Amino acid sequence: MALSTVNTNAAESHLHCSTFALRYVRTALPRFKMSEQSIPKEAAYQIINDELMLDGNPRLNLASFVTMWMEPECDKLIQSSINKNYVDMDEYPVTTELQNRCVNMIAHLFNASIGDDETAVGVGTVGSLEAIMLAGLAFKRKWQNKMKAAGKPYDKPNIVTGANVQVCWEKFARYFKVELKEGYYVMDPEKAAEMVDENTICVAAILGSTLNGEFEDIKMLNDLLTAKNAETGWDTPIHVDAASGGFIAPFIYPELEWDFRLPLVKSINVSGHKYGLVYAGVGWVIWRSKEDLPDELIFHINYLGADQPTFTPNFSKGTVTFV
Ligand SMILES: Cc1ncc(COP(=O)(O)O)c(C=O)c1O
Repeated sequence: MALSTVNTNAAESHLHCSTFALRYVRTALPRFKMSEQSIPKEAAYQIINDELMLDGNPRLNLASFVTMWMEPECDKLIQSSINKNYVDMDEYPVTTELQNRCVNMIAHLFNASIGDDETAVGVGTVGSLEAIMLAGLAFKRKWQNKMKAAGKPYDKPNIVTGANVQVCWEKFARYFKVELKEGYYVMDPEKAAEMVDENTICVAAILGSTLNGEFEDIKMLNDLLTAKNAETGWDTPIHVDAASGGFIAPFIYPELEWDFRLPLVKSINVSGHKYGLVYAGVGWVIWRSKEDLPDELIFHINYLGADQPTFTPNFSKGTVTFV
């Protein structure tokens, strides 16, 4: 059934054989307002496609943080799932299951201690930025709850980082009113531990600095903070921003302890799209355990009958990144 009719000119109707010969392609369309007239879909496609040709060629873009080629089989899977709205988990339980399997695989890769009958705590996101917002909120809420319970002020939270943090941490700090206490260019664990105070919701360490790929010494940070926590009675945790190194270290440096093997590491984010053969649009956040994700951040919806826990900020969401 046609939902719209095309305003065709009888005198030109014989021209439909060539999109370029249509008058729609000869007359400029308004740039910032909707056109008064409709145009045939072929002409719309041609105009938009031609304009997009002025973009760079993604395959030649060597400066991008993300990759721009996937196997043709992936393209096929993406095409066949592009019309699913992932938020309808009851409607698309297999997609949900695939996402959960990925969360569990990544949690195991990052050495979370998960029993055979346990499932990992984590979620797929559109990238590390969204993952970091969720992890940061979990730390902020846990810290606030602890300070409230102790009858202490909870309006001046801070995060200790190196000055090399990616802009997403600055965004988190500004959006959610958390002070960013940036140390030296690459985090020096000793300086970082010194900068920690009672209002520090977490130390954010980077595994794979955006600027030069450098890994920060997270094991040393864990040891120094453990000592400081014992001395002060605080329990300052660590988040690892493994956006650019989380899928390198487990394979190339399996002995390097940077992940859930370290007791103070409570959450880790990783980008899916920075390592090759994955289009932009996927990241992950994994928590050490359920206790590290406060209940207040989990919302329960039941539009389609069953209970669906959700803790990502967006609602409707394409499926393509999980297939
Ligand atoms: C260390 C680090 N954190 C976070 C990000 C943001 O990642 P995404 O693009 O997946 O949101 C980047 C991206 O370059 C990064 O290098």
